[in-house]
Amino acid sequence: MKKSPKQKPDSTVVSRSGRFTGGPAADVAAFSESISFDWRLWEHDIRGSLAHAAMLQEIGVLSRQELSSIQAGFKSIRDDIEAGRFEWKASLEDVHMNLEAELTRRQPAGAKLHTARSRNDQVALDVRLWLRDEIHHLDLELKQLQVSLVELGARFPEVIIPGYTHLQRGQPVYFAHHLLAYVEMFDRDRDRLKDCQRRVNVCPLGSGALAGSTLPIDRGFVARELGFVDSAGRPRLTRNSMDGVSDRDFMIEFSAVAALTAVHLSRLAEDVILWATAEFHFIRIADAYTTGSSLMPQKKNPDIAELTRGKSGRVIGNLMSLLTLLKGLPMTYNRDLQEDKERLFDTADTVRACTRLMGAMLDHTTLLEANCRRAAEDPQLLATDLADYLVKRGMPFRQAHHAVGEVVALAERAGKLLNEVTLAEFKSVSEKFGDDVLETFHLLRAMERRRVVGAPGTREVRREVKRWSRLLAKRTTG
Ligand code: ARG
Repeated sequence: MKKSPKQKPDSTVVSRSGRFTGGPAADVAAFSESISFDWRLWEHDIRGSLAHAAMLQEIGVLSRQELSSIQAGFKSIRDDIEAGRFEWKASLEDVHMNLEAELTRRQPAGAKLHTARSRNDQVALDVRLWLRDEIHHLDLELKQLQVSLVELGARFPEVIIPGYTHLQRGQPVYFAHHLLAYVEMFDRDRDRLKDCQRRVNVCPLGSGALAGSTLPIDRGFVARELGFVDSAGRPRLTRNSMDGVSDRDFMIEFSAVAALTAVHLSRLAEDVILWATAEFHFIRIADAYTTGSSLMPQKKNPDIAELTRGKSGRVIGNLMSLLTLLKGLPMTYNRDLQEDKERLFDTADTVRACTRLMGAMLDHTTLLEANCRRAAEDPQLLATDLADYLVKRGMPFRQAHHAVGEVVALAERAGKLLNEVTLAEFKSVSEKFGDDVLETFHLLRAMERRRVVGAPGTREVRREVKRWSRLLAKRTTG
């Protein structure tokens, strides 16, 4: 590569300058660049650089004039990036060097910006800043999904469906109760995000390449500038420079929380897919949230749910990639760590998109009430209630279970439903069955009997729907 004077600033900021006689071979540059994916950290990189520059001025490394020129330089760079005019160069490897080189080309004071800083603490800072925002947005999106679930349940407060174990009909539940199970799962995810955020929100800048700096930098100043503070406003700083540059635990924690969220989304997706089949036929998803088949004209497929289920696989894979990436690394920064970003970005993008789309799909989903009713009226769903009936009349549960099993077998042999068994037949199985036994099959009354905390009883579910509506109306996290 021939050097023209115009290219000079580039080579002065590149870390190789001085030590090296030339640039890397073309295939080496292509192999090692990260600008193709880390460009998206630009806003956070600039934010971090501005805070660092302000600190350098405070401690006298930069004059006021130099700080202003750096601020003006970043402002013009920001304008160019936003307008799509900024030219990212793979020859400058990554987002940090692209921005610094361009700043220095526009403002000579840019050459002082990297004082007491390494790309090692810089990239750790950028990703923490970026992830902090992502967590905030994912939290809001999960909350919105919770709202969609609660609202769908509240739109059909009376609808009862079979609850399943082993995908076999078990006991009746309110449809809202089924949806609220997911609200609980996503709430635990949000709680985990909040906890993870606490460890993301620590400032690594000042760790330098691995051993801090001999210059009298003010790490607390930078941390406060960037909002790395505790609830009392005290700066939160990484306490060991070697850990500061090589720690990626916060990314792994986020990826683990996101993987579990993806699993929850996938389970919800699976329920939706089942409910949309002709076999279940409990829901109808609006056309805009389904796709057709290129061959079978009648098809309407729940692709959003299927893709959500499918994408959970790559989110789980990303977590495994990151764990594997870290496991053999000696202290401190190793270039392997550049491989962290694509996995992290993909996880955040994927989980956020799935969360948004699943919520939107639920907002455009309606319940086929008559089909739900037909399924919920299956009297076998109340076989356990029948056993409880005998327990209330003094029979030990094991015996009651056996007696009801006999009634079920009797009904099956006679080819009739459980609630079509005659009183005489009931009594032939056990004297404990009284004249009021058929009452047990009154579905609404059966639902009212479920008064245990957490059970799908009429009162319980109504209370839970209200509780969630209230909670979601007020709660936001950071
Ligand atoms: N692009 C690099 C990364 O993503 C930035 C840090 C590079 N540091 C270094 N010493 N080469 O990890």
